[in-house]
Amino acid sequence: MTAPAPESEQILIIDFGSQLTQLIARRVREAGAYCEIHPCFRVDAGFLAAFAPRAVILSGGPASVIAAAAPDIDPAVFALGVPVLGICYGQQLMCARLGGTVEVSDHQEFGRAMLDIAGYCALFDGVWRQGARHQVWMSHGDRVTALPPGFRRVATSDGAPYAATADDARRFYGVQFHPEVVHTPDGAKLIASFVRKVAGCSGAWTMAAFRTAAIARIRARVGEAGRVVCGLSGGVDSSVAARLVHEAIGSRLTCIFVDHGLLRAGEADEVVRVFRGRFNVELVHRDASDMFLGRLEGVADPEEKRKIIGRTFVEVFDEEAARIGGAGFLCQGTLYPDVIESVSAFGGPSATIKSHHNVGGLPEHMKMALVEPLRELFKDEVRELGRELGLPDTIVGRHPFPGPGLAIRMPGAIRRDALDVLRRADAIFIEEIRTAGLYDAIWQAFAVLLPVKTVGVMGDARTYESVCALRAVTSTDGMTADSYPFDHAFLARVSTRIVNEVRGINRVVYDCTSKPPGTIEWE
Ligand code: XMP
Repeated sequence: MTAPAPESEQILIIDFGSQLTQLIARRVREAGAYCEIHPCFRVDAGFLAAFAPRAVILSGGPASVIAAAAPDIDPAVFALGVPVLGICYGQQLMCARLGGTVEVSDHQEFGRAMLDIAGYCALFDGVWRQGARHQVWMSHGDRVTALPPGFRRVATSDGAPYAATADDARRFYGVQFHPEVVHTPDGAKLIASFVRKVAGCSGAWTMAAFRTAAIARIRARVGEAGRVVCGLSGGVDSSVAARLVHEAIGSRLTCIFVDHGLLRAGEADEVVRVFRGRFNVELVHRDASDMFLGRLEGVADPEEKRKIIGRTFVEVFDEEAARIGGAGFLCQGTLYPDVIESVSAFGGPSATIKSHHNVGGLPEHMKMALVEPLRELFKDEVRELGRELGLPDTIVGRHPFPGPGLAIRMPGAIRRDALDVLRRADAIFIEEIRTAGLYDAIWQAFAVLLPVKTVGVMGDARTYESVCALRAVTSTDGMTADSYPFDHAFLARVSTRIVNEVRGINRVVYDCTSKPPGTIEWE
């Protein structure tokens, strides 16, 4: 028997504004099913007919079902005849709309809670047995107080008399806790049980299957003779996108690698070696560092630096694309988190903290169609796909690196001669992190060269040199972050090496700020 096309098994996640909605999607995909997140206000009968979900998951959310302007659900969801899993707000909404009652509780539950399994249901099959107690993670004020017809209670907690509910005939399930977070240890198994056993998905959505389907889609989009250009930055996303497109259309892809002179040590060489040398990709390597650094001379304002780099990048990319000529398509490494339209709890777009520049942005006047083969993927899925495509771990597992590069790691005006000082300090820090086996546990680590000089003493001589700040953070998506808790001996070792080996730095400090209130980069 051949596996059904994974797209025919897609699961719809309706977003009601929870910070955790993307985690639901991660768990569904880990269970081998393709899924998409859509905001609640987009989902109506027409949408549902076009999407044809195999099952629906209703996310949590910050609102109260009882409030007047609470995000609502189109009742067409319940008439589809497919399984529905409501999580937290999703459970309360399902309950309220199907004839049950939701009330504000005087017993709020936030954090770990114990769940008593009161009955069997298909969702628990092979995971939890009646009579057992299990740890879950809760975050709710409201709670279900009376069930709709057809539902029964299958679990309780101290704060939630209906902590899990089931209507087996309609295959509707509700949980007050959050199965998508790791603090619910069996949560991933419950979501897998919903996806595989309740919804009957085959689990065929793997990276190997995605690769084959994506290549077919690229070929169909670009056609027999179409040509594609791709801005390569050396980062994970553009590298994987380029490799995939190259596999689909071979020499009809040309990569353009614009070196703005703000890359880390050895970075440009590696990109050229891997793409031109190993994969035989048509690659234009344009060293435009003089142009970028010339335009940045004397510019100290972070936003101004970003804008200059963004504009210059587009100009150079445009020039090179015109030189190649005839390309009708531009490949971009856009990821799924960039295309998800989330429900905002506060009703408006979030404030721009920094104007991000991404290599490969489409110049307005360039009339090229987009090829975005990673639009459906999360970052860790892109890494898995990269490995599947044979990219080396040095590229696939690499920490994110911002488009404006070292320009935003040297606060104030960029000093050309100091770029090498920064590169050397950064390389030592990363080398020590790798040696200590910590690289993969850290989201991002880098050195920052401050425009501050301090006095030191080396040998018998007084020194007056720059301060280097080290930054290393853990994060899951770059939106929030914690500084990495290195032990002191490690930091002392890195500090000694940098001061001894890098002329121009005589003091090293470690940045302990989390995000928020700080940001990951210094500018
Ligand atoms: P912040 O500094 O805003 O960074 O906490 C969050 C994440 O985004 C990266 N970053 C950028 N990436 N172009 C990029 O492609 C940019 O202009 C840019 N600015 C910040 C940053 O490295 C971190 O991973």
